[in-house]
Amino acid sequence: MMMMSRGATTAVRSAMAVQTSPRLFTTDFLGSEKAVAAWWLTSSPVHGARNASTMTLRDKQQKEEAADGGPSAAASSGGQKPPKEVVSYWGVQSPKVTKEDGTEWKWNCFRPWETYEADLSIDLHKHHTPTTFLDKFAFWTVKSLRFPTDVFFQRRYGCRAMMLETVAAVPGMVGGMLLHCKSLRRFEHSGGWIKALLEEAENERMHLMTFMEVAKPKWYERALVFTVQGVFFNAYFLAYLASPKLAHRITGYLEEEAIHSYTEFLKELDKGNIENVKAPAIAIDYWRLPADATLRDVVMVVRADEAHHRDVNHFASVIV
Ligand SMILES: [Fe+2]
Ligand SMILES: [Fe+2]
Repeated sequence: MMMMSRGATTAVRSAMAVQTSPRLFTTDFLGSEKAVAAWWLTSSPVHGARNASTMTLRDKQQKEEAADGGPSAAASSGGQKPPKEVVSYWGVQSPKVTKEDGTEWKWNCFRPWETYEADLSIDLHKHHTPTTFLDKFAFWTVKSLRFPTDVFFQRRYGCRAMMLETVAAVPGMVGGMLLHCKSLRRFEHSGGWIKALLEEAENERMHLMTFMEVAKPKWYERALVFTVQGVFFNAYFLAYLASPKLAHRITGYLEEEAIHSYTEFLKELDKGNIENVKAPAIAIDYWRLPADATLRDVVMVVRADEAHHRDVNHFASVIV
């Protein structure tokens, strides 16, 4: 791993197998992953963007055969010209992907093989007791950020969740980007951490895409996101450069606060103060929720994700 000595890398890799991203390293979901992979392989003509160049060559070959009146022309179009395809992504035709029920997969921001089931059994009460100076600094930094957030949002948890996810998706991207650059600079492997952190950022962004469907931001909230992102991105970038240990500890405590916020969100839902509306379609597909899932189900899986991020970042802070 880039953040630590080479000698520690092997030990950390085995530890990461249980600590880092569920879709990358744990075996809990292998059964369902395999099922999705098998279904995808049989239902999708193209296996992801990585094979797009190969597919382009095949398309080109088929077009040449069609022009020559070759076998694929007759087979594919019955002697008629194939329908003109819309080039939609980097000049490459997007692969057609279908769901298990045969309907078209409508999300471009994630694909079926990137979906998963959240581990709801994760311990939500785990807390890293601050012991060192850096720990205490990280803990009180996060606590001090909590106060203005409470004042601004009060008990509007839907809006609060949406706004906080715009911040939560930053640390993984900054950490992943810096480790990526470090790997290039030093000609070293990353031990899996670049992918784990970037996947955390993507997971957080999916939280945002989900809550966007539930709470629509007002103009002044959008303006606030601009300001907060500008400050937080740069502050976290500098903090990570100065001390990855501190940066991961801050994220660990931010995740602890996120768990608390989502627990309060659930209480408000249970009291009936927030309407338990139907889960957004994007959430049903991303977390493989049942078709009749509700907002409460979504908050449950998001909270489990936050607990997972908490463990990953506290672990990273220890080993860095
Ligand atoms: Fe989140
Ligand atoms: Fe998180």
